[in-house]
Amino acid sequence: MKKDIYILGLETSCDETAAAIIKNGRDIIANVVSSQIESHKRFGGVVPEIASRHHVEQITLVLEETLHQADMTFSDLDAIAVTKGPGLVGSLLVGVNAAKALAFAHQLPLIGVHHIAGHIYANRLMKEFAFPLLSLVVSGGHTELVLMEEHGSFQVIGETRDDAAGEAYDKVARTLNLPYPGGPHIDRLAAQGQPVIDLPRAWLEEGSYDFSFSGLKSAVINTLHNAEQRKQAIKAEDVAASFQQSVIDVLTAKTVKAAKEYRVKQVLLAGGVAANKGLRAALEEQFAELADIELIIPPLSLCTDNAAMIAAAGTVLYEQGKFEDLAMNGYPGLDIEQ
Ligand code: KG4
Ligand code: ZN
Repeated sequence: MKKDIYILGLETSCDETAAAIIKNGRDIIANVVSSQIESHKRFGGVVPEIASRHHVEQITLVLEETLHQADMTFSDLDAIAVTKGPGLVGSLLVGVNAAKALAFAHQLPLIGVHHIAGHIYANRLMKEFAFPLLSLVVSGGHTELVLMEEHGSFQVIGETRDDAAGEAYDKVARTLNLPYPGGPHIDRLAAQGQPVIDLPRAWLEEGSYDFSFSGLKSAVINTLHNAEQRKQAIKAEDVAASFQQSVIDVLTAKTVKAAKEYRVKQVLLAGGVAANKGLRAALEEQFAELADIELIIPPLSLCTDNAAMIAAAGTVLYEQGKFEDLAMNGYPGLDIEQ
């Protein structure tokens, strides 16, 4: 019988300090996330210096809570996995150094995980992967269509040429005077409004799976300014609904087209914007008609940053024998294809 594998994951790439223990890459034994959102809200975005300091304060507490929840000690673990990039360098370094110290002290293998690979593997905590599969990754820093032929292999077939989807949500939210992070607020307002404002959809050239959201963001800002100058009332709910409809139309259309072209068995949704109710509903509607493609959408708690997804992706690297030594660093611009 195969021995069970227990991996401890650590995630500190942005503004959540998180630790988790996963069994065999699929079962969550413990999952703890400490969010710093409250500290960054008054600045309207993540302040890197503040983020690093919070990670330093929280990491030991989060780690202790994770072991406590799992009722385990380090001797029960098989490896330590940590996000090594991309992300804020000061934030990444807190997790990376904690992981290196733990691996050294407890003589455990060290695994470095790509943050986006983690977001993709959050889906494996719901359902076993069937290849080839396509993942729509939509987060605060990334918007990508990633094709996977097997475990640990990632081919980016399309990506944003300017703003990430989450970034566009946050910027539009700011112009509507909504708090950071703006995504959930726009999502909520959109449900109360109608997409009556005509906004652009950046389809780009024929056959491209790339995205662009900066033109849409500028169009929203122009619409608001013009209305203000003409002293016309414009409902924030309708702005939110129109913006969201434009984002969703492009994301779903390109995902469906790529899923058919590459004949994938599964389509996964990943990243913070995967929490968007409108996007989830639109994808569910589209893929309900495509019986041979299975759509997997993680629960909200696994869409935003967490360490369960890092341990899940780390388990595959453990099985492939891909380990790091103590020279591992934090890599802010790490490429998923390498
Ligand atoms: O993946 P994530 O937690 O952090 C990064 O790796 O970037 O994503 C955070 C992003 C933020 O831009 C936030 O506004 C967005 O996800 N977000 C949403 C929703 N919930 C979070 N965007 C749209 N609708 C939501 N419900
Ligand atoms: Zn993330």
